Amino acid sequence: MLERHVFLIGMPGSGKTSLGKKVSGELRVPFIDMDKRIQDIMGMTVSEIFEQHGEAAFRAAETNMLIHISREAPAIVSTGGGSVMNPENVRIMKAYGLLVLIDRPLDQILGDIKLDRRPTLAEKGLPEVERVYKERIDTYRAVADVTLDNSQGYHAGVEALERMLRLRFGMYVM
Ligand code: S3P
Repeated sequence: MLERHVFLIGMPGSGKTSLGKKVSGELRVPFIDMDKRIQDIMGMTVSEIFEQHGEAAFRAAETNMLIHISREAPAIVSTGGGSVMNPENVRIMKAYGLLVLIDRPLDQILGDIKLDRRPTLAEKGLPEVERVYKERIDTYRAVADVTLDNSQGYHAGVEALERMLRLRFGMYVM
């Protein structure tokens, strides 16, 4: 059992959702994909929210969702890559959980990121991914309680995250 939420933060394409989903299954703890939750509640995709209501509406939905999540049982939470850019979101996450940066090198992100469902990046393409990475990386590192190196591939990332959470939360049973 987790004692607090585990908020996975980091760039789009860093592996927050794929690692979070897998490790939550291994540890038998709940998993929450914030973007998916927002999509389910609003009944449209993130791209549609941006198109029809604008980015500000999506950012407000992110903060509301974090408030909801903070009241739920501790879970591994995959956050949207832009969520930590709002200090209020960081305040909520710090109050209710551990912030784990999924740290993946820019060249690897550029190599396989899917842009179609990422409206903030889709239009301007890979140069925009690079610009956003450079704009955000210091913030990601500054707000993270723990940084998880995700440069060695999916399986190594899963193992590293699982090991780290087992140690932190005293889940020693295999
Ligand atoms: C965003 C990242 C996306 C999603 C939205 C905005 C961002 O989540 O929340 O498209 O500003 O970086 P992922 O990090 O899961 O791609």
